[in-house]
Order: sequence, then C-alpha cells, then structure tokens
Amino acid sequence: MDPETLIFSTIAESDIPEIIALWKLCGLIRPWNDPDRDINMALSTASSTILAARKNSTAEIISSVMVGYDGHRGYVYYVCVHPDEQSKGYGRKVMQAATTWLLEQGVWKLQLLVRGSNLGVVEFYKSIGFDQSDCVLLEKWIDPDDPRKL
Ligand SMILES: CC(C)(COP(=O)(O)OP(=O)(O)OC[C@H]1O[C@@H](n2cnc3c(N)ncnc32)[C@H](O)[C@@H]1OP(=O)(O)O)[C@@H](O)C(=O)NCCC(=O)NCCS
Repeated sequence: MDPETLIFSTIAESDIPEIIALWKLCGLIRPWNDPDRDINMALSTASSTILAARKNSTAEIISSVMVGYDGHRGYVYYVCVHPDEQSKGYGRKVMQAATTWLLEQGVWKLQLLVRGSNLGVVEFYKSIGFDQSDCVLLEKWIDPDDPRKL
C-alpha cells in the first residue's frame, strides 16, 4: 500500500522536545548519549541536519532522522518512526529523505550503525537496499569525561 505523503522539514529549535520524546518512545536514547547535545551539534554545522516528517504542516512529528557527512561518507543516526505509524512505509520514506539530502550535498555513499541489541532492524535496512558490511567498528570516547563512567 502506498504510504500517505509526508512533509519533511529540518527541525526548528521549538521541535526539540517533541523529537526527544519521539526518540524515547522509539527506544533510541542511551544514558551516555545526551540527546540535547547530539541535536545541538547536528544543527550547528552545514554538514549535518535533522529531518522531521509530519502528515501535514501542523501535525505531530511521526518520524525523524539525523543525517550528515564527515567529509567522506554520509551517515544517519536516530532513524525512527512513531510506534503507532510503523510498518506503513514511512521508514523507507524517511531514509529516502535522508538520501536525497546527502545527494544534494554531493555525498555518494551512505553508511549506518546498528546496535548489537537491535539486530532485528538489519532486515529493514536490507529491504531498502543496504548491504551488510564486513567492516569492524572500533570506538573510543576521546572526551576525558567519558559519560559512561559518570
Ligand atoms: C526501523 C524503523 C525506522 C522502520 O520503520 P517502518 O516505518 O516500520 O518501516 P517501513 O514500513 O518503511 O518498512 C520498509 C520495509 O522494511 C521492512 N521492515 C521494517 N521493519 C522491519 C523489521 N524490524 N524487521 C524486518 N523487516 C522490517 C518492512 O517489511 C518493509 O519491507 P517491504 O517494503 O518489502 O514490505 C522503525 O521500526 C523504528 O522506528 N524502529 C525503532 C527505532 C529503531 O530501531 N531505529 C533504527 C536504529 S538503527
């Protein structure tokens, strides 16, 4: 079934509480990731943004994606669709919106991370054309105030 048309826009400062509430509802918040800080950083540079989707311009936000590039590859984070609106094709739509945004910036490859605790979602990404990479992701908190120790 063709999903209802969504209106995508870059979030405004006034949307931030609604976006954070949506992320919480979708299980995307972790104690060591401060969502306010993540949002402010994404909105502070031209190389990243957060797109929100509504069914009409005054309706509540039902989906969002943080999208950006690092000078080489494009990435998405905090991909979500409101639980009441899942399985209607909106996840595919929000990923299309992120892809379009990246293409407009001249980016030609999109990568993303899936938490080990959320591997079920890999099938979603495969169904919209992503391949599983054989790369290993290494990470290090370079801020001396590692938030996982606080
Ligand atoms: C992942 C998420 C964004 C998918 O959104 P959605 O609106 O339900 O996805 P869609 O309806 O657009 O589905 C697109 C395709 O993916 C498939 N799909 C979606 N979720 C799936 C899942 N968990 N497992 C397997 N397939 C899935 C659908 O069947 C559909 O396939 P089709 O087009 O061949 O029928 C949504 O489930 C969500 O917000 N989850 C919670 C947050 C999350 O885990 N985000 C990802 C972080 S990496």
